Amino acid sequence: MSDSDMIVARAEDLTRHYRVKPGPFQSAVPLKALDGVSFELKAGKTLAVVGESGCGKSTLGRLLTLIEPATAGQLELAGKTVETTDPRKIRPFRKNVQMVFQDPYGSLNPRKQVSAILAEPLKINTKLSTSKIQQAVIAMLEKVGLRAQHARRYPHMFSGGQRQRIAIARALMLKPALVVADEPVSALDISIQAQVLNLLMDLQDELHTAYVFISHGLGVVEHIADDVLVMYLGKAVEQGSKQAIFDHPLHPYTRALLASTPFVDPDRRRQRIVLQGELPSPLRPPSGCAFHQRCPQAMPHCAQQQPSLIPVQGRQVACFLYEPD
Ligand SMILES: Nc1ncnc2c1ncn2[C@@H]1O[C@H](COP(=O)(O)OP(=O)(O)OP(=O)(O)O)[C@@H](O)[C@H]1O
Ligand SMILES: [Mg+2]
Repeated sequence: MSDSDMIVARAEDLTRHYRVKPGPFQSAVPLKALDGVSFELKAGKTLAVVGESGCGKSTLGRLLTLIEPATAGQLELAGKTVETTDPRKIRPFRKNVQMVFQDPYGSLNPRKQVSAILAEPLKINTKLSTSKIQQAVIAMLEKVGLRAQHARRYPHMFSGGQRQRIAIARALMLKPALVVADEPVSALDISIQAQVLNLLMDLQDELHTAYVFISHGLGVVEHIADDVLVMYLGKAVEQGSKQAIFDHPLHPYTRALLASTPFVDPDRRRQRIVLQGELPSPLRPPSGCAFHQRCPQAMPHCAQQQPSLIPVQGRQVACFLYEPD
């Protein structure tokens, strides 16, 4: 098996339920933040995870980076099953998965110089000498488009885009197989977004890292994604190759998301479908298909039955409008 065929991450029915109290005198109810998501991601490829606020994107990111355990389902990293419910067994996997967060201001320790921030993962996880670590720090700074003299500076001395470069450098110090980037450019100016996306793509070409790229909208992921997973209230409603999802979206929710995305390319501009109604509360999810109340094509039984993912036209879609291939 060549390196490029290696499956870096495989999730099967990955699930995270929380118990929350809806009000002060009410008893706890389950909140299905992530409710059975499955995918496979190969080395050097990018899976984009998209959907509105609260659909479970960051929860999925936290499970994949082992920040918190799943409540059900399976996760394999680099071909090995992670016992996600046993914290002791998680440790050996940790350095293979790293996260880049949305907020480039909050995610770097303001009291540490960049050199210390980047050296830390190597100090904790390797036996490299101090001088070897410093060499690695300088090399990584240059890889992400910064300079050796930046090593002595503190995070507040950098712009948002530069800070995100530092966060990316930190994530890559241990050469992880998988980086989860949780809305890594949404806090940046539009003009800076493209630079950081290009950097991520160049680094992927060079290092063959797999990315899970989390985003509200489809616009930013068009260039970076190989596969796309569209989520709604904790579940995948449609997933498949970028071509399938962008060229022939099938789920009415995917279509609505695409229609609300500003595209430069006129072929990508399409009829505007405005999402009706509010996003339902995950504490009181609708019966049947969770999207039925907002769906322009809802049929009577959509309110009763929950559609499961089926293979249609080369991708998976959870919608009663389609018959399986
Ligand atoms: N620790 C927690 N305890 C209880 N509920 C939680 C917890 N973390 C997340 N949730 C809930 O789980 C659901 C999914 O949250 P999550 O942060 O994964 O969504 P998201 O898609 O990342 O949203 P956003 O786009 O706003 O970042 C939300 O309803 C959220 O309130
Ligand atoms: Mg989030």
